[in-house]
Amino acid sequence: MDVLLGLQWGDEGKGKIVDVLAPEYEIVARFQGGPNAGHTLEFDGFKHVLHQIPSGIFRPQILNIIGNGVVLDPIVLKKEIDGLGKYSIDYMKNLVISKKATIIIPTHKLLDAALETSKGDKKIGSTLKGIGPTYQDKIGRAALRVGDILSPDFREKYDILVEKHKTTLSFYNHPLDALAEMESQFFTAVEFFKTLNLIDSEYVVNDALSANKRILAEGAQGSLLDVDFGSYPYVTSSSTMAAGACTGLGVSPSKIGEVFGIFKAYCTRVGSGPFPTELFDATGEAMRKEGKEFGSTTGRPRRCGWLDLPALRYSIMINGVTQLFMMKGDVLNIFEEIKICTNYELPTGERIDRLSFEITDMEVKPIYKVMKGWHCSLADVHSYEEFPAELREYVHYLETELKVPIKLVSVGPDRTQTILR
Ligand code: GDP
Ligand code: IMO
Ligand code: MG
Repeated sequence: MDVLLGLQWGDEGKGKIVDVLAPEYEIVARFQGGPNAGHTLEFDGFKHVLHQIPSGIFRPQILNIIGNGVVLDPIVLKKEIDGLGKYSIDYMKNLVISKKATIIIPTHKLLDAALETSKGDKKIGSTLKGIGPTYQDKIGRAALRVGDILSPDFREKYDILVEKHKTTLSFYNHPLDALAEMESQFFTAVEFFKTLNLIDSEYVVNDALSANKRILAEGAQGSLLDVDFGSYPYVTSSSTMAAGACTGLGVSPSKIGEVFGIFKAYCTRVGSGPFPTELFDATGEAMRKEGKEFGSTTGRPRRCGWLDLPALRYSIMINGVTQLFMMKGDVLNIFEEIKICTNYELPTGERIDRLSFEITDMEVKPIYKVMKGWHCSLADVHSYEEFPAELREYVHYLETELKVPIKLVSVGPDRTQTILR
């Protein structure tokens, strides 16, 4: 099983690359996260954003698995499946869902909003899809799982959980006006959900591996949003790293082959939290405009900045990345000079290149290496050899610094705008 995951703060272009690589696999499987993800695919003039459905869904021969590590909103899933209508996808055949995945219920979304409001200016900038409260219930051994919807006492279990949530919501004085309408949508979606292919996905995954079938595990979010290693508490609530693919699918670490680490040629972040190389000037604004950096799930403008090598090295280390994929190289076309952060300078003047525990709460100054930009269009570039010399130098410098080969460079959002080395 190979794993593909984001090395930054999400939105690196995972959806595009899973779709590009999918024909080399028999199975694509999501292992964590939920509707907070927004994975964009572009092909044949279509642009489509997936939230919970794996990005292999547009390849008819691929089995797509939503694994046990995912938190799943039935309302969002129904909308997503309805949205696939125009592509004539046989989702009964090529989409299966783990009975051990956790269900997001309406009060999880209200709790998400209540908790964010209570944090004031310390808010996380959550997508408010109910992710944190749902994982909290999972770990707290109180959650509902996909298999539960088939049980005759599902409604009873649901009511017990909602009563508990209402106590907390009342503590936060959070209004419940929207709940009745949300519940009506939820139970309609649950009826639809029952008709889908609900399975014990860990058997399907391991049987496939025993039969030497190839599986690509698709990560959501990014390593710097990981609940253990991200910029806590400004993180998501799941394990976004390679190890998460093992627990989120029921696969032994010994079965992991390649770990594809995907990064943008610069950095973006949505929501709050530290971002050492963030640009607040016209350069950052130009990056956002050129990269169309607005959230795929929430539409929020993404914060933009130069590439951060200490952060990238950290993500490569904790994931054991074996191949790097560099995305959105074309967005840097507009710059005459390109900067890369090589170190951080602490308030004491000391220079470091590690993401220590203390660094989250510190104002660090990025130290940059400046490189000459290629400053031209990459529209007609179809191979690495045709890259402008400055872009080749950029790639070469990164490979040398990161000590992992960059095997793929993406130069546009379409499936075809992908250059393999
Ligand atoms: P994901 O969450 O990692 O799947 O990434 P998103 O879909 O949230 O955000 C990536 C955005 O960049 C999407 O709008 C993609 O269509 C777009 N994109 C992906 N690769 C490239 C690229 O190489 N160049 C440009 N310009 N856009 C890209
Ligand atoms: P994909 O898979 C970018 C961010 C949110 C917020 C923090 C916590 O498309 O890369 P949550 O809703 O999980 O409670 O939010 O994490 N976040 C993402 N940022 N891409 C994502 O997913 C994200 N999923 C969550 O903005 O800062
Ligand atoms: Mg995204």
